[in-house]
Amino acid sequence: MDNLAAVSTEPVKVTVTGAAGNIAYSLLWRIASGDVFGAERHVDLTLLETPEHVHAAQGVAMELADSALHLVRNITVTDDQKTGFDGVNAAFLVGAKPRGKGESRADMLEANGRIFVAQGRSINESAAQDVRVLVVGNPANTNAYIASKAAPDVPAERFNALMRLDHNRGLSMLSDYLGVPASKIDSLVVWGNHSDTQFPDIEFLRVGGKSVTEQIDRGWYENEFIPRVALRGAEIIKVRGHSSAASAASAAVDHMRDWVSGTGGRWVTVAQPSTGEYGVDEGLVFGFPTTAINGRQTVVPGLDINDFQRERIDANITALRAEAAIADELFT
Ligand code: NAD
Ligand code: LMR
Repeated sequence: MDNLAAVSTEPVKVTVTGAAGNIAYSLLWRIASGDVFGAERHVDLTLLETPEHVHAAQGVAMELADSALHLVRNITVTDDQKTGFDGVNAAFLVGAKPRGKGESRADMLEANGRIFVAQGRSINESAAQDVRVLVVGNPANTNAYIASKAAPDVPAERFNALMRLDHNRGLSMLSDYLGVPASKIDSLVVWGNHSDTQFPDIEFLRVGGKSVTEQIDRGWYENEFIPRVALRGAEIIKVRGHSSAASAASAAVDHMRDWVSGTGGRWVTVAQPSTGEYGVDEGLVFGFPTTAINGRQTVVPGLDINDFQRERIDANITALRAEAAIADELFT
């Protein structure tokens, strides 16, 4: 089953971890309404939680049932990993501790890394052959690296990390700046890590097929746009008091929908295991410009990278190498 959205007879089996948490409270309803796998596709939902919070997840399942959503065929609530990933076609790995004020996402590696060893192993044992895994829990790139490493029988490219939120944040700011709808803006990419080093890059930016990079003030780009996108997560935590939830869920919906149904030639930012593209070490889960067709993602090839871009891409490689070194210790 290469293109999940194209097949409507079989329900798609979807697992959401952290099902009693903030992001899931928005994400589950979007999945159940057909926003990811299409308005014709039935879904079997599995809500995976910790033993402490599985009771609360039951409550979420009760509310899902009360929504009488016609696409939902079955809902399972569990704190058992094996049951949680049994036959899963699409897994959203959300369950992890969010950072608080003043913490970095990398600080969460110690608290969250082990979750993804266990879940990667369970996916390796129990998931469907066509499983797609989107890691949302932070530090998302390195958690996806961990999960993939723990699942040697699943092709590495089936493990993505969420950087679509960064991409969407960039699109929204550019939409305001250029005075055009975000849907008309193409060829933005956020290279690297879902962290402060991320590099939202406008070098290839197009509106209506034409380059608009020259229309953007370099000072605004370097001093406002790049840091504002990169630090938006911390800004949300400061203003909202909690980390982003509905926008994260919305980005996860965009990511999985495009992975399954294709991007129609548009670029989206996908953090996926490198196969050496643009000088990124093989295996590091890195944000790349990506298109998707028939359920397969391709990193946009052959882009000319200037010194400004290179320096920022390299900073992300360095940061992810350091996180991967810590992550590797979980396997020793
Ligand atoms: P939350 O605290 O509201 O919910 C997290 C839930 O995960 C909790 O209910 C917890 O019990 C559960 N959980 C923890 N370990 C689990 C496990 N092993 N199995 C199943 N469930 C488990 O947090 P949230 O706001 O939903 O955020 C979740 C994660 O997503 C955080 O790490 C946050 O930093 C991250 N996040 C990432 C992005 C992104 O763009 N990549 C955006 C926003 C948030
Ligand atoms: C975000 O970007 O909003 C999330 O990763 C949450 C965070 O810790 O910033």
